[in-house]
Amino acid sequence: MGKIIAIASQKGGVGKTTTTLNLGFSLSRFGSKVLLIDGDPQGGMAIASNLKKRTTLGLVDVLQGRCDAKEVVMTTKDQSLSIAGIGQPSPEEVFALEEAAHNGKLGELIRRIADGFDYVLIDAPAGIGSLVTALLAAADGVILVIVPRMLSLKSLPSFLALTQWVQQNKNAALSLEGVVLTMFNPTSPTESSLLEEIKASLPAEVFFRTVIPSEDLFEQASVRAIPVALLPGGQQAAKPYLDLAMELKERELLTQRGEQDDDQTIGLF
Ligand SMILES: Nc1ncnc2c1ncn2[C@@H]1O[C@H](COP(=O)(O)OP(=O)(O)OP(=O)(O)O)[C@@H](O)[C@H]1O
Ligand SMILES: [Mg+2]
Repeated sequence: MGKIIAIASQKGGVGKTTTTLNLGFSLSRFGSKVLLIDGDPQGGMAIASNLKKRTTLGLVDVLQGRCDAKEVVMTTKDQSLSIAGIGQPSPEEVFALEEAAHNGKLGELIRRIADGFDYVLIDAPAGIGSLVTALLAAADGVILVIVPRMLSLKSLPSFLALTQWVQQNKNAALSLEGVVLTMFNPTSPTESSLLEEIKASLPAEVFFRTVIPSEDLFEQASVRAIPVALLPGGQQAAKPYLDLAMELKERELLTQRGEQDDDQTIGLF
């Protein structure tokens, strides 16, 4: 089984779904087999990818026994990218979903459908509630998405505290893959100084080098429910997400190498 990474944030509307879709698309461009899972009861990923064209079934339908797990994993036109929706949960089913999150059934389901993929990216709902906690408990890593706004800076410690709590109490293998800054406007002095403040608040290596700029084409791509790279003229806007995908792979290689170095004495053989 490949790596399961939750894309999460404390604040809403910061670009989690956009990051899941565009990072996932970029990883598939680099030859990885990628599954995107909608972990948000509001179904952001279904909207962002026009999943309903293929199915309205999702994780809640599997949990309710209405369909089989493999019926919710949809391969896109790009064979290396698949998407599993959350379904269209009623209020009672959202409650049942939270319960499935709490008792580990959601995590089991995620691990089951993750089989056979190199990367599984979970689009988490905003916040630090029980569903997010369960998604982190089922994941190998978490990417925290923040925007250069005061509220994002203020919310950083509580999200990091949640990550630490999950590591200590639920999932010791969970790693913080990194924090990615999105929707950055480099021409705004306020944002530039906030960016510096955010970066100064944590060790440098916590942050991905790649910063995703604010760019209207993402909004247009959202309207058309496609990754920005597929938008006519969207190649340039898509580049930062290719960089982010490359950086994620680089970090993984470095971690693997570090683990090997821990295991072996120095030498070529
Ligand atoms: N880099 C960007 N530049 C400009 N607009 C962006 C960028 N990234 C995302 N957006 C737009 O911002 C809006 C919110 O993005 P998105 O839905 O990805 O956020 P989210 O964190 O998933 O929100 P929620 O917490 O509600 O699930 C969308 O309309 C999206 O098109
Ligand atoms: Mg979203």
